[in-house]
Amino acid sequence: MEPLNNNNRGFSSNLGAILAATGGAIGLGNIWRFPYTVGQNGGGAFIIMYIVFVFLLGVPVMMSEIIIGRRSQQNVVGAFRVLAPKHKGWMGVGFLGIAAAFIIYAFYSVVAGWTLNYIVLSSSGQLTGKSPIEISQLFVTFTQGSFLPLVYQFLFFALTASIIILGVQKGIEKYTKILMPILFFLMILLCVRSLTLSGAKEGLDFIFKPDFSKINGSSVLDALGQALFSLSIGMGALITYGSYIRKEDNLFTTSLWIAGADTFIAILAGVAIFPAVFAFGLSPAAGPSLVYEVLPNVFNSMPGGRFFAILFFVLLTIAALTSTISLLEVLVLWAVEELHWSRRKAAIILSFVVFVIGAFCTFSFGLLSNLKIFGLTIFGLCDKLTATYMMPIGALLFTLFIGWYLPKTEVYDELSNSGQLKARYFKIFYFIIRYIAPIALTIILLTGIFS
Ligand code: PHE
Repeated sequence: MEPLNNNNRGFSSNLGAILAATGGAIGLGNIWRFPYTVGQNGGGAFIIMYIVFVFLLGVPVMMSEIIIGRRSQQNVVGAFRVLAPKHKGWMGVGFLGIAAAFIIYAFYSVVAGWTLNYIVLSSSGQLTGKSPIEISQLFVTFTQGSFLPLVYQFLFFALTASIIILGVQKGIEKYTKILMPILFFLMILLCVRSLTLSGAKEGLDFIFKPDFSKINGSSVLDALGQALFSLSIGMGALITYGSYIRKEDNLFTTSLWIAGADTFIAILAGVAIFPAVFAFGLSPAAGPSLVYEVLPNVFNSMPGGRFFAILFFVLLTIAALTSTISLLEVLVLWAVEELHWSRRKAAIILSFVVFVIGAFCTFSFGLLSNLKIFGLTIFGLCDKLTATYMMPIGALLFTLFIGWYLPKTEVYDELSNSGQLKARYFKIFYFIIRYIAPIALTIILLTGIFS
């Protein structure tokens, strides 16, 4: 197949690339998963470990993925065929990414669908004036109901697919450019509201005063899984978007922007949520329902609560949407380039396939809640399988590919834009990718598997 010309293949500017990739990275991972994982792992110390992982492992792995994408100008599977023509086995890494994209999209869309329902509930006043028990009941009844969540999940698939069908520049780039600034603005508003509540200090202490006695083996694994999940690395989303990044853009600064913005928004989400949780005497360790069961009480007990509740769930929807776009694009680009489908056909058929798997994830809160595999519901299993195993394994394989398989000159060529940039950090980067990252990822993975 003819490789596409870089200029009409992908994003039209560096800003467009950064916003689209940042939009893919910032999502439910930051605003739903990060706060409850921090809450379950005891706060500040976990956050410090998380930040170390983001910059020490996350950024170099992210750069590796983008190198693979931009150098090959291909989808996740095609990328390995082009870069390792004599060793077809590497294409397996691409298929692992495709599998991960299916599974992540399946469970992610469940929570994304919930946010739509909560926009409806908050704007119609159905959350207002309810006691904490009633709020919990509302969440449980809704998620157990199975039918309504399925409808919202379906809506989310339709929304995502319709943007993907518009294409890379007219769909992904255009919409993320509009949505990301709105998200950022809403987040700041929420933080201001939360910080001006009396009693905010306890929540800030929880986030910013580390207590290292709360760290154990499983929190290390949680922190790594959260870092990879939040940055969308280890499954090929950044190979896909990397293939759209222009040849003249600087991959190092682009990666730093993405990782920096993603981490910043996660911390802001913590600042928006924990002071409010503590100010109203609620528990930070509620788990996956934190945002849905705990926050409505917070909104109920603050002035202007209904308005801020709507704002929050709109924000959550936007964050989820820019991420589901990046998930579906991994699959669509693969089908377009490897199976020669049209973009429209790929978007529609693949969305339906994921919807079928996704329906089981939705049912795992209701009809199938008693079905446990390895002690987890289908939803829990999909989350655990991807964030804790598939993404770290993917990340490990990407680092091995860049550190040990692709010739060093090619890696340097890509980072220096064929000698136009100095890339002074190269030695450090290469050392991390060759030794530190693979060793650290292996140790953490083995600890996770055997503990
Ligand atoms: N990073 C996204 C989030 O934080 C989730 C995601 C993972 C998206 C992998 C794409 C690929 O919500």
